Amino acid sequence: MAPPEIVHADAAALAVALADVLAGVIEDALAERGTALLALAGGRTPMPIYRHLAQARLDWSCVSLLPTDERWVDAGHPAGNAGALRAAFAAATGVRILALTPGRCAASPSSAAALAMLAPLRGRRFDAVLLGMGSDGHFASLFPAAEELPAALEGDAAALVVRPRPLPAEAPFARVSLSLARLLESRRLLLAIAGADKRAVLDAARRGEDVRALPVRALLRQTRLPLEIHWSP
Ligand code: 6PG
Repeated sequence: MAPPEIVHADAAALAVALADVLAGVIEDALAERGTALLALAGGRTPMPIYRHLAQARLDWSCVSLLPTDERWVDAGHPAGNAGALRAAFAAATGVRILALTPGRCAASPSSAAALAMLAPLRGRRFDAVLLGMGSDGHFASLFPAAEELPAALEGDAAALVVRPRPLPAEAPFARVSLSLARLLESRRLLLAIAGADKRAVLDAARRGEDVRALPVRALLRQTRLPLEIHWSP
């Protein structure tokens, strides 16, 4: 059974708490291995976490971050997750932000750039993966009803193209996403969600079985590593 969520008083408290957790993860990774590698969700919820985290006194030049998923847009596009990470981590001098998409995106989405970036990281666990969740139960870009969902949940590829159906109104783009298999190659797995509607989705996910209807069930049901759930109103 998945653990109960840790409840924070509000979004600001969640941001401070998770920034502290991730700063500790990075500190330990730097002490033990000399480098740190984290995969971080896009979307609105985690940005305050990242802005807090960026203030931590760490050797950021030894830290690499990559988005858990990316929208198929050119570098610099306001909807891009790597760009949002770059902005949120502006204070973290020297941090390396890796990209899942090429700088200029052709008409047809492709996972080639992501797979090329991930190839040298094969076998290397993330120090932490921080995920968000949409109100349709998606995480990263593992959307219900996407044709690619079974491959993303069950396949071996580290990353793949996902075309959400319908395209989400707030970011109507095809995506390149890390697969569940790659996301679970991590030392820590954190899920940050906010709001009563998402709490209800999470509760529904705990009750049912159908992973394709609510992909977040795949995180709740996996036994590879503990899922640390953080919620705020
Ligand atoms: C993305 C994400 C996605 C996000 C959820 C929640 O790029 O959209 O990685 O999985 O975490 O959609 O987004 P919000 O925090 O904005 O609700």
